[in-house]
Amino acid sequence: MATSLHERRGHIRLGGFFHPTGNHVAAWLHPEAQIDAGVNFRHYVELAQTAERAKFDLIFVADAAAARDGNLDALKRWPQYMAYFDPTMLMAGIAACTTQIGLVATASTSFNEPYNVARRFASLDWISGGRAGWNVVTSSQPAEYRNFGINAMPPHSERYARAWEFVDVCRGLWDSWDDDAFVRDRASALYFDPDKLHNLHHHGKYFSVRGPLNVARPPQGHPVLANAGVSDTGREFAAAIAEIVFTPLLTLDEAQTLYRDLKGRMVKYGRRPEHLKVMPGLNAVVGRTEEEAEEIHQRLQSQIHPDVGRQLLSTELGIDLSGFAVDGPLPYHLIDTTVAQRKMLVDRAKAGNLTIREFYLQYAGARGQRTVKGSPQRIADEMEEWFLKEGVDGFLIQPPYLPGGLKTFVDLVIPELQRRGLFRTEYEGRTLRDRLGLPRPVSRYAVPKMAT
Ligand SMILES: Cc1cc2nc3c(=O)[nH]c(=O)nc-3n(C[C@H](O)[C@H](O)[C@H](O)COP(=O)(O)O)c2cc1C
Repeated sequence: MATSLHERRGHIRLGGFFHPTGNHVAAWLHPEAQIDAGVNFRHYVELAQTAERAKFDLIFVADAAAARDGNLDALKRWPQYMAYFDPTMLMAGIAACTTQIGLVATASTSFNEPYNVARRFASLDWISGGRAGWNVVTSSQPAEYRNFGINAMPPHSERYARAWEFVDVCRGLWDSWDDDAFVRDRASALYFDPDKLHNLHHHGKYFSVRGPLNVARPPQGHPVLANAGVSDTGREFAAAIAEIVFTPLLTLDEAQTLYRDLKGRMVKYGRRPEHLKVMPGLNAVVGRTEEEAEEIHQRLQSQIHPDVGRQLLSTELGIDLSGFAVDGPLPYHLIDTTVAQRKMLVDRAKAGNLTIREFYLQYAGARGQRTVKGSPQRIADEMEEWFLKEGVDGFLIQPPYLPGGLKTFVDLVIPELQRRGLFRTEYEGRTLRDRLGLPRPVSRYAVPKMAT
């Protein structure tokens, strides 16, 4: 399909987004899902190796600094975030069992200090040989704040203000040492050149950090930065700092608008549009035939317990729906629609005049991302169209259950994309930046070279 559109050159970027047992809220009930996935390191290694065999750019894991909070009668049937590895620890382990694939882990700017995060990701970049990425999140679950002595969640704008300064400090810390600061010369007994060491001396609204970082400048200069802002502030933040954006996009029209908007906003930060890759989630339900894909989907859908469906929406909408009838409407008046993400969901439910059950059935598979179901050809068609029509630079593949859903995608869809010339057959370059076509950041202390 769409061969006439082939003027856009280059390859689709692909990431694998792994919730432990899979993306679907009932994934763990699938007989082929890894039931203890949240604490099964070998499971993640197998996923990473499968994605690497297929030449994915990266794998990604999300994070929350709390077990899920809410109605235990529902949560007892929903394992995600109840047993969940720290993502940077997990990625460091995976780094040792892979050689090529990018490793993007989430860390919050609301509970950490920039020094810890800068050090952790610099370490991951060295351990993995230049494959680290950081998904910068500001965290929006009140339960997370209560684990850090914060009873009232700071306002959205305040969280982002802290995030801007946080990232700026991390970047400064990563530049603590020039790339060639460590001379390690036994003959002269000189380990490093003190002229190539820079203390940050940062004093801002939220942080005071002297520096330097006790890790050499990372192989990639800075690890790759990712973000998934939906709000206007979130998009502005992404345009300023992000090199990958995971913002959810449901229609091609919406995708094209966001693509232009984000890339347009980058100019005022002195950035080039191609230095940010838009990669929304894609809940790809793949079957050898259309019917098989539909069967996989329906089987998972039929296993959503109504309590879990309601709890899923309660979490997303920030209200307690446990006392509301599943076949009745959402209590719109209780939902705070000043939160951009919630407004988006409410608009969707209102537009379809959906009951709570109808809404959770729509939402449970993809968790707010787009679902594409069908044969490998259909999935590839949809991906091709969005890529060629400049809605996206790539996708974050969110298999409905794991590991089976990833294997099916890799065995059936990847060859189809390769056959169309839309996806690589060999890795190029060495680092995650090389793979994504992103420049290596120049140190803030570098002296500009004079033109000769
Ligand atoms: C693919 C994807 C992954 C995300 N991962 C996380 C995560 O791991 N932790 C988290 O707190 N928020 C996560 N989020 C939420 C975003 O960071 C962001 O807060 C949300 O999209 C709302 O945007 P806003 O902050 O601009 O309002 C994710 C969102 C998307 C779409």
